[in-house]
Amino acid sequence: MSVNIPRGTQDILPGQSEKWQYIESIAKDVCRRYHYKEIRTPIFEHTELFKRSVGDTTDIVQKEMYTFEDRGERSLTLRPEGTAAVVRSFVENKMFGMADQPVKLYYTGPMFRYERPQAGRYRQFVQFGVEAIGSEDPAIDAEVIGLVMDIYKMAGLKKLKLVINSLGDAESRTKHREALIRHFEPHIEEFCGDCQMRLKQNPLRILDCKKDRDHELMKTAPSILDYLNEESKAYFEKVTAYLDAVGIQYTIDPKLVRGLDYYNHTAFEVMSEAEGFGAITTLCGGGRYNGLVQQLGGPESPGIGFAFSIERFIAAMEAEKVEWPIDKGLDCFIVALGDAAKDRSVSLVHELRTAGLSAERDYQDRKMKAQLKASDRQHARFTAILGEDELTENRITVKDMAEGSQDQVPLNELANYLKTKMEAN
Ligand code: HAM
Repeated sequence: MSVNIPRGTQDILPGQSEKWQYIESIAKDVCRRYHYKEIRTPIFEHTELFKRSVGDTTDIVQKEMYTFEDRGERSLTLRPEGTAAVVRSFVENKMFGMADQPVKLYYTGPMFRYERPQAGRYRQFVQFGVEAIGSEDPAIDAEVIGLVMDIYKMAGLKKLKLVINSLGDAESRTKHREALIRHFEPHIEEFCGDCQMRLKQNPLRILDCKKDRDHELMKTAPSILDYLNEESKAYFEKVTAYLDAVGIQYTIDPKLVRGLDYYNHTAFEVMSEAEGFGAITTLCGGGRYNGLVQQLGGPESPGIGFAFSIERFIAAMEAEKVEWPIDKGLDCFIVALGDAAKDRSVSLVHELRTAGLSAERDYQDRKMKAQLKASDRQHARFTAILGEDELTENRITVKDMAEGSQDQVPLNELANYLKTKMEAN
């Protein structure tokens, strides 16, 4: 009996994996230009970390975590997101004491959520994320948003919509919270069990409910923007002014709440507006989380970040039909005929690889025609044919598949010959 792949996960096969590498390389290059450095944290953490940061009343913590007990009876959880671990590491490694603040970090790796699988929603998915911790300058909010928009732009995506909102500071949120309770309480029995619980624990989460999203009271719910105090309002205005200054277009949506509890002030999402993208259009989510460092045992150190999944990034590229500038990759296929030539091709292919070229030979003892076909299938730029005559004369026949031309090349000159020709065009 064969064993299948678990639901909501996927194998990334050759042909696809190049797309992943391409997106990762763009994202890393943009991070280099913005001066963000990579951090790598474990794939599992203490369950408590996510409860305390993502929040006890969120769907992620209540329904979606892969939690298990290890042999030492500790409760561990496969990370559902990256921010909590980065902040834990920031505190644990006392990065708040570093001379240069904010500490600017990026990460990439698999995240795990037990969600209902559908197009664009997986149980294991790969996030690329950024966190800037240690500054409350609204310019850093605009920088982080600008960074992700630059990644999308560099990849060639155009049909995007950036949506932003402010969730305000603690005082604004308390006032908004009271207004939400007043709004929903008289009709709370019309809502799902989860929302009934959320009413007193965390009424903002009601706005994020998937089941009750069409209820009339959702549309008329009090907007956070009407409850922002002067400071929060001024902060949000600065962020939008900086976005204007760098020419980033955005839409303000007071209903954008985000599904994790640690946010305050700036919250944002990037959506795909490409036709045929599917029901889930959110490509990226992020926001400010002042207070989270303190909540996880560090000194007050305000932060902001975002994450996107590579799965949805690729889906957006496909929906917009953006070209993948992916090198098919094989420089030279060596066709060897006869035992002596086959023996010689072992060191020849090695010489080419040592010289930095990608090279391949036959390992199936195939006839000439089948070897030529293989070279073609593998998109070799050059096919080099080594027969008995060539071997005795210490030369090799090289076909330039792009130009359709053919040359005789001394065997010990092959690598140089190929490199010179490749540099010429
Ligand atoms: P999030 O909105 O939960 O935020 O996820 C961010 C992104 O991860 C989403 O916009 C989406 O691209 C991707 N994503 C989430 N769940 C799935 C899934 N099941 N399948 C495929 N892709 C998915 C966070 O995770 C925050 N940590 C972001 C952040 C960083 N905020 C501040 N810093």
